[in-house]
Amino acid sequence: MRIDIISVLPELMESPFQTSILKRALQKGLAEVHFHQLRNWSVGKHRKVDDEPYGGGAGMVMLVEPLDLCISELKAQRDYDEVIYLTPDGETLNQRMANSLSIKKNLIFLCGHYKGIDQRVRDLHITKEISIGDYVLTGGELAACVLADSVIRLLPGVLNDEQSALTDTFQDNLLSPPIYTRPEEYKGLKVPEILLSGHFGKIEEWRHDEALRITQERRPDLLQD
Ligand code: ADE
Repeated sequence: MRIDIISVLPELMESPFQTSILKRALQKGLAEVHFHQLRNWSVGKHRKVDDEPYGGGAGMVMLVEPLDLCISELKAQRDYDEVIYLTPDGETLNQRMANSLSIKKNLIFLCGHYKGIDQRVRDLHITKEISIGDYVLTGGELAACVLADSVIRLLPGVLNDEQSALTDTFQDNLLSPPIYTRPEEYKGLKVPEILLSGHFGKIEEWRHDEALRITQERRPDLLQD
């Protein structure tokens, strides 16, 4: 998988991809992440990438031309499955979306800033708009890192067996059951007897019941679809 990320602040996204599991995934060649400084496609000597909104109002709008030039240049080099704009107006990211993006080959992520992007960029290029939650960040960069992390960790070979994505919270629309490790007792709090029993079938049943109970309690909406 190849992800091209367009941003005015690419340096904000460096460390997540230079650390731990994502770093190893890139080193192993399981994914490629390329950053593109939008200012390199700005026209004129001021390297301007935004301007005031037509019709007035607060905040600046990202110019259509640098974004169109940048995206068009990338598209001329390869076919992209999706051109994704990270925005609080988008569809809220969930595990199902991460799963479906993880089987794509080439993706573009566009990080918005200021009030957002000129509508014509959306009309010309954007195929999907994704929000990472109902709150507003200073820009799309952190959201792009979240989206990339949720997708790259699903690629075959990125996680080992112990980290397997198959047992994640959300993978079967359930939250995770409680988990414990040594010691058996801490400050009077004991590990549930069943987990020490060695009875694999019963343990799986307990975990499923607990997952259902916790999901019912915290996120009943997950049990609805
Ligand atoms: N940009 C600013 N806030 C955002 C959010 N919640 N999700 C995605 N992109 C954003």
